Amino acid sequence: MLEKFERYPLTFGPTAIEFLPRLTKALGGDVEIWAKREDCNSGLAMGGNKLRKLEYIIPDAIASNADTLVSIGGVQSNHTRMVAAVAAKLGMKCRLVQESWVPHEDAVYDRVGNILMTRLMGADSRIVDDGFDIGIRKSWEDAIQSVIDEGGKPYAIPAGASVHKYGGLGYVAFAEEVERQESEMGVKFDYIIVCVVTGSTQAGMIVGFAAQNRADRVIGIDASGTPEQTRAQVRQIVDNTAELVELGRPVREDEIVILNDYAYPAYGVPSNETNEAIRLAARTEAMITDPVYEGKSMQGLIDLTKKGFFPKGSKVLYAHLGGAPALNGYSYTYRNG
Ligand SMILES: Cc1ncc(COP(=O)(O)O)c(C=O)c1O
Repeated sequence: MLEKFERYPLTFGPTAIEFLPRLTKALGGDVEIWAKREDCNSGLAMGGNKLRKLEYIIPDAIASNADTLVSIGGVQSNHTRMVAAVAAKLGMKCRLVQESWVPHEDAVYDRVGNILMTRLMGADSRIVDDGFDIGIRKSWEDAIQSVIDEGGKPYAIPAGASVHKYGGLGYVAFAEEVERQESEMGVKFDYIIVCVVTGSTQAGMIVGFAAQNRADRVIGIDASGTPEQTRAQVRQIVDNTAELVELGRPVREDEIVILNDYAYPAYGVPSNETNEAIRLAARTEAMITDPVYEGKSMQGLIDLTKKGFFPKGSKVLYAHLGGAPALNGYSYTYRNG
C-alpha cells in the first residue's frame, strides 16, 4: 500500500519479534506473550516509534528546503528527542517547545533522560508552562513564526508527528512488516497491544491491519487520560491515512478499539499497578518500560491476560514503542526498584 510514498530510512530495518517465556509463565501460561521491539529500531538516540513515522515525513521536509525542524511535546517527550535526532543526522536545525505536560516533581526531571539527549544533540529546546494537550498549540505556532522571523525556513511537525498528513504511514508499514514476519516465522498473532496518546501509531496500524481484515485485533491502551480527544484524533488519522493509501473502504467504528481503564491517575503519572507492571516486565524479561506510555500498556496487557480477555491459546503481540529514557525523570519513584 505504500509504494507511491517516499521513505527516508532512519531505522535499522524490520524490528525483532521475540517470544517472552518468563512473562508468559508469570501470567499463567494460557496466553503466549510476544513483543515487537520498536524500542530497539535504530542507532539514532535510542530510537522508538517516532522514527517509523518520521521516515515518511522527512522526504517532504527535505523537498520543502526547510533548514529547521520545529516540533512540540512534554518536557520528557520521546518525540522531541527523535525530532532532535533526525535534525542532527540530516544537518538541520531544530527548535522545540517542551510543555509542562506532567504533574510530577522530581529534582532532575528537566535535566535527564529525553531532554538531556535532546540538548546534547544541539536542539534549541524551550520549556513553557502549558499543561497536557495533544492538539495544535499556540506555542508551537509561535515557535514556527520565530524561525521565520529570524530568516530561517521551518518545517512543522505536530505533537507525536500524529496529525501531519503522512503521520499514519509508518505504522501502516508496521502492519505489513508483521504479516511478512508471521509467514517467515510460521506464527500468527491473534491480538496486538499498543499504547495510544497522540494517535498515529495505532491509527496507522488500524489501516494496515484493516487491509488484512484484523484491525479490531489491535487493542489500543489509552495513556492520555483524555480518551475522547485521543479517540477523535485516531479516527481522523485513520480516515486520512485510509484515503492516502487507498484502502478502498471506510474503517468501521468497531475496528477502532481503545481501552480507557489504565491511564489513571493522569498522563505521565504511574499508578501502583503501572509500577508493578514495569517491575514484572523488568524482572521476568529485562524488558524496560516507562511510567508514561509503555508501563501503562504493559499494565493493560497484564490485566487483560489475567481477566481472561484473550481466549486460551491466543498469541498476543505487545508493540514496545520505546520511551525508557523518561525513567530517569522518575528516579525517586523507583529508588528502591
Ligand atoms: C514510548 C511511546 N509509546 C507510545 C506513544 C504513543 O504513541 P502515539 O502518540 O502515536 O499515540 C508514544 C508517543 O506519544 C511514545 O513515545
